[in-house]
Amino acid sequence: MSKTFDILVIGGGPGGYVAAIRAAQLGFAVACCESNPYADPKGEPRLGGTCLNVGCIPSKALLHTSHLFEEAAHAFAGQGIEISAPKIQVAKMLARKNSIVEQLTGGIKGLFRKNKVTFIPGHGVFAGQGANGWKVKVGKEEVEAKHVIVATGSRARHLPNLPVDNKIVCDNIGALDFDTVPKKLIIIGAGVIGLEMGSVWRRLGSEVTILEALPDFLSFADVDIAKEAQKIFVKQGLTIHTGVKIGEVKASKKGVAVAYTGKDGKAAQLEADRLIVSIGRIPNTEGLNAEAVGLKQNERGQIEVDAHCKTNLPGVWAIGDVVRGPMLAHKAMEEGVQVAELIAGQAGHTNLDAIPGVIYTTPEITWVGKTEQELKAAGVAYKVGKIPFLANGRALGMDAPEGFVKMLADAKTDRILGVHIIGAGASDLIAEATVALEFAGASEDLARICHAHPTLSEVLHEAALACDKRALHF
Ligand code: FAD
Ligand code: NAI
Repeated sequence: MSKTFDILVIGGGPGGYVAAIRAAQLGFAVACCESNPYADPKGEPRLGGTCLNVGCIPSKALLHTSHLFEEAAHAFAGQGIEISAPKIQVAKMLARKNSIVEQLTGGIKGLFRKNKVTFIPGHGVFAGQGANGWKVKVGKEEVEAKHVIVATGSRARHLPNLPVDNKIVCDNIGALDFDTVPKKLIIIGAGVIGLEMGSVWRRLGSEVTILEALPDFLSFADVDIAKEAQKIFVKQGLTIHTGVKIGEVKASKKGVAVAYTGKDGKAAQLEADRLIVSIGRIPNTEGLNAEAVGLKQNERGQIEVDAHCKTNLPGVWAIGDVVRGPMLAHKAMEEGVQVAELIAGQAGHTNLDAIPGVIYTTPEITWVGKTEQELKAAGVAYKVGKIPFLANGRALGMDAPEGFVKMLADAKTDRILGVHIIGAGASDLIAEATVALEFAGASEDLARICHAHPTLSEVLHEAALACDKRALHF
């Protein structure tokens, strides 16, 4: 006998668990299956997906600890605080991180109980159509549901012929769990994970070298932000080589040896205790039996969806990292809500043009909307308001004068087209810019809003004023 639900969600990451909760709030009978190999204390797969288990949350916990460590080691003295040199207890740092993961992943199970979402442990496999909708096998059980939401997420892309043991050669999973601070660490890929994890281990004492294939650093970011970020990270002690071609990677006496060809065409080799491979992520469709039921995927392996997250199969939806768009937890959650509401006949919607992005380094890097190079390429006439944090009293008081806010607005209509920030508190500042962008706001709208003093938000305010060449404090 199969169990019947209105909606089955496959995958309990941020996309899937949010879709399940929202659908249950809307009155549907909902189940969510999850096959995460990491078990909770009860032996069940943990909910929360990549984000809560081996992504956003544990990485931010380590970023916080390592930031405090660096402040204590290098910033306290300048403010008249004398302490002896700090020491890091890696085991304690990891235990704190793990307890946050435990708390939050367990919390989702609590939210499922509260919202009456049925949790089914196991891997969801499409098994065709039945009288009550789609048939999906989850372990030994068979579930039937009128609607299936595929939220199976993504996993790290590995280099061909380079097995990841997550001890010496690591992807995101091992990189969050080093039991000692590596003396030397090589990172392949200067993207978001490379910079965040590189920052964590550099702050704690590793000598970190990042090898990036593309000739330009952070080429997806606004060009001014990328330039400033590279300058700051190099000053902090990260060694970054762009335009490299990775050659043979093999075990060595010290741990691992990486051969590569540099931008100048010269062959080089590096040795380190550990290696992180962070070269992007690939969608998870393994074992889903997608092909057998005719679920269409594109050439990148993503499940193909339209703007409503509808797949080519009636009643089958897909959201989050397994579909197009930025691989971000908040984007996955938005799509989860969108699909639940669309199934309920409401006007669910995700605006892929207003998804903020954040890199949680120090300083933080954030953006929403278009970059200057995108506007140039599209032939859009724009104006720029750019204000440094150095001109802000709060930033100086916080000993955080680095970086700037750059606002791009339409030259004719003044509509805000993009906001790019590198600086303290940028991950919170971007929220105001996102609201303005979503409301089709103009730089004048932000310029006419009273911002509390002294706050970092005044830098955003001044950038809005600067779009009209009337900044008051710069
Ligand atoms: P996932 O979180 O990957 O969840 C999918 C779930 O589906 C998994 O638990 C998987 O086990 C399960 N699953 C797969 N197939 C099946 C199946 N057939 N049956 C049952 N279950 C299945 N994003 C941010 O927005 N902010 C950040 O700060 C951030 N930091 C990150 C740091 C790191 C190191 C990494 C790796 C990622 C980070 N991300 C961050 C990205 C973020 O984690 C993902 O975008 C987000 O988790 C995607 O959510 P999802 O629900 O689509 O997929
Ligand atoms: P990424 O796409 O951010 O960066 C990968 C980098 O590796 C790119 O710069 C790419 O040019 C480079 N690269 C690719 N192949 C290479 C090769 N063979 N040799 C050398 N360099 C190579 O991917 P990353 O860092 O793995 O992260 C995956 C995704 O996870 C991100 O795109 C993001 O969506 C998400 N994430 C988000 C975070 C956040 O929101 N703060 C934090 C971490 C991850």
